[in-house]
Amino acid sequence: MLILGLESSCDECAVAVVEDGKKIHSNVITTQIDQHKVFNGVVPEIASRLHTEWIYSVTEKALEESGFTLQDMDGIAVTSRPGLVGSLLVGLSFAKGLSAASGIPFLTIDHMKAHVYAPFLEYDIEYPFIGLIVSGGHSIICKVYSFDDIEVLGTTVDDACGEAFDKVAKHYNLGYPGGVVIDRLAKEGNPKAFHFPQPDLSKRGNPYLVSYSGLKTAVINQLEQFHNKNYPITNENIAASFQKTAIDILTKRTIKAAKEHGLSRIVAGGGVSANSYLRSSLKEAKGFDTYFPSMKLCTDNGAMIAGLAYHYFKEGKVSSYSESASSRVSGFKTK
Ligand code: KG4
Ligand code: ZN
Repeated sequence: MLILGLESSCDECAVAVVEDGKKIHSNVITTQIDQHKVFNGVVPEIASRLHTEWIYSVTEKALEESGFTLQDMDGIAVTSRPGLVGSLLVGLSFAKGLSAASGIPFLTIDHMKAHVYAPFLEYDIEYPFIGLIVSGGHSIICKVYSFDDIEVLGTTVDDACGEAFDKVAKHYNLGYPGGVVIDRLAKEGNPKAFHFPQPDLSKRGNPYLVSYSGLKTAVINQLEQFHNKNYPITNENIAASFQKTAIDILTKRTIKAAKEHGLSRIVAGGGVSANSYLRSSLKEAKGFDTYFPSMKLCTDNGAMIAGLAYHYFKEGKVSSYSESASSRVSGFKTK
């Protein structure tokens, strides 16, 4: 079964052709980073306008590179949530148009479910497992029973992890996207230069909750207070110390979740799963099989949308043309 997958939830305009949820025939990703970096963040109005300009040619390119035509497709899938609504609507409306004109079945996909599906494009992974879905807008520690059955164990009570990377980078004028630059700078810095506090959320009664606003404030406004005077204050040292704290918050809870649920498999996805320290620290954790998407599949792409969509189409699921876009996640179970 050949699926065309479209993704326009944020600043990547991406389209892919994937066969049977696994075989990537094409995966075209165009990014608007250059257009947004002067603002140190994504400007929603600019993002949606660029999607409108780009989506037709990105789709044409994805089909051309795959060696198939639109008429060869068995399904057209598109991200409809969560994300920037103006950007989502471009992909969604375009996909509806393609489907209506061609008669090919249409399906909307949840972006976060697609992120945790991304490693399935490269590995055979058994359910259930502990999922860590971390992006610019979300930080979700979950138990994944199937491609569509996900129970949220913990999430952020304030900022998302990727958002904290972006805001720290913006404050220190390090560049955009923050995660990529901080990861790079951190390699030259010492994580012991600052001893930033980890959030204490014990009073909230859920050991899997995370928080980033306190850490962000400490890094931005209380640098001196947490400084170890044996090391100089440099961007590299700030990046290394911040990154270690931000990532340790996630790994500690993810490993605890795996142990307490008796699961040895951990699967990560989303932009932050590209982080080199996150990848090495989870891979080093003894007794677990950890799966990360390859770098190209960590951040937003159409292959994860087309790959996940296959499993719904196989069950005969299709979406109505009256479906709209939403900025929020939906369809995740909570206790
Ligand atoms: O999944 P994604 O491409 O878009 C959203 O769905 O939000 O994730 C983007 C986020 C940004 O916050 C970016 O700074 C972060 O992922 N990111 C990273 C790294 N690469 C991207 N964060 C930490 N380390 C990285 N290497
Ligand atoms: Zn994403």
